Amino acid sequence: MESSQSSQHKEEEHIAASRLLHAQTHIWNHIFSFINSMSLKSAIDLGIPDIIHKHAKPMPLPLLISSLQIHPSKSRHIYRLMRILTHSGFFSLQKVPLDDDDQSEEGYVLTDASTLLLKDNPLSVSPFLLAMLDPILTKPWYHVAGWFKNEDPTPFDTAHGKTFWEYAGDESKLNHFFNDAMASDARLVTSVVIDKCKGVFKGLESLVDVGGGTGTVAKAIAKAFPELECTVFDLPHVVEGQQDSGNLKFVGGDMFQAVPPADAILLKWILHDWNDEECVKILKKCKEGVTSKGKEGKVIIIDMMMENEKADIDDESVETQLFFDMLMMVLVTGKERNEKEWAKLIFSAGFSDYKITPVLGLRSLIEVFP
Ligand SMILES: C[S@@+](CC[C@H](N)C(=O)[O-])C[C@H]1O[C@@H](n2cnc3c(N)ncnc32)[C@H](O)[C@@H]1O
Repeated sequence: MESSQSSQHKEEEHIAASRLLHAQTHIWNHIFSFINSMSLKSAIDLGIPDIIHKHAKPMPLPLLISSLQIHPSKSRHIYRLMRILTHSGFFSLQKVPLDDDDQSEEGYVLTDASTLLLKDNPLSVSPFLLAMLDPILTKPWYHVAGWFKNEDPTPFDTAHGKTFWEYAGDESKLNHFFNDAMASDARLVTSVVIDKCKGVFKGLESLVDVGGGTGTVAKAIAKAFPELECTVFDLPHVVEGQQDSGNLKFVGGDMFQAVPPADAILLKWILHDWNDEECVKILKKCKEGVTSKGKEGKVIIIDMMMENEKADIDDESVETQLFFDMLMMVLVTGKERNEKEWAKLIFSAGFSDYKITPVLGLRSLIEVFP
């Protein structure tokens, strides 16, 4: 009979082995996390979600393969790409009824996530995905450790020798794909903001969208509120070639110097790009902008609101917040902020009050009053 000492020893060995295995799997899955993003990018590059969508019913693998523009020798690998993307929730398999007998086969259908990646979806997130996974934006991640040891402002500077904004001004490729990425997000958020926060724009005669990119947000606001004079203010290379129309115009300039005066100034996805000192400078310029017409206007911030670690939010949302915060550290000088950090910035810039309205997921709208 086995002594109780040796059975306890075996139990301890078993626990140690299973902990070791768990640790190894944890490490492997982190090493290979990029395979999830790169597989997804490959599917977008090949147009797979659009092809399945066009088919309008579950699409069997052979039909999918014959619809793709790929080399015949690669046909036998497509199921592997589809298998990992089905596992990660971008496709699912459904039975396709066949005409004869009771037989059926399986076909791929889209999920909510891949539907949001369709090229023709007005709210498509594909431009954002393609921008974030472009080598210009992934290269800085190889320089994070080096950046911790040097004096550069960001890992992007370490990788490319200039700031993100200088690079976008010099290289039209980055300028274009970044502007497209921002416009795709702007469509998604604006559709919700205009619907949910109509009252925020009521009674305003003029609005300037500072750092408004190519004008997606301002165009939608100008259309929804025809009485409102809207201005998109951004760096000259961003607004170059954009056409004024109706109640919308474009102005080039630098928000650190001055911003055009208005009843309201919108800052969507601007302040998270900058550190606290830079944000206070921008907010002070905005305060001058909304008070210079003799009446007190307001600044409208749309940005991420970090939840405290103990808040009741799901694991996926916690990870999204942490990813965005790291992104802001690596590409630009910014950070994601919680309410306390937002309040500190707002009061440091000389504003007296603010009001927060949650907009979409982790994004909030903050009205800031002089
Ligand atoms: C993250 S994007 C946000 C774009 C847009 N607000 C949106 O949410 O879709 C930041 C914007 O700030 C602009 N920007 C950067 N530095 C600026 C400056 N000094 N003056 C004015 N705009 C600037 C960029 O060109 C870019 O369009």
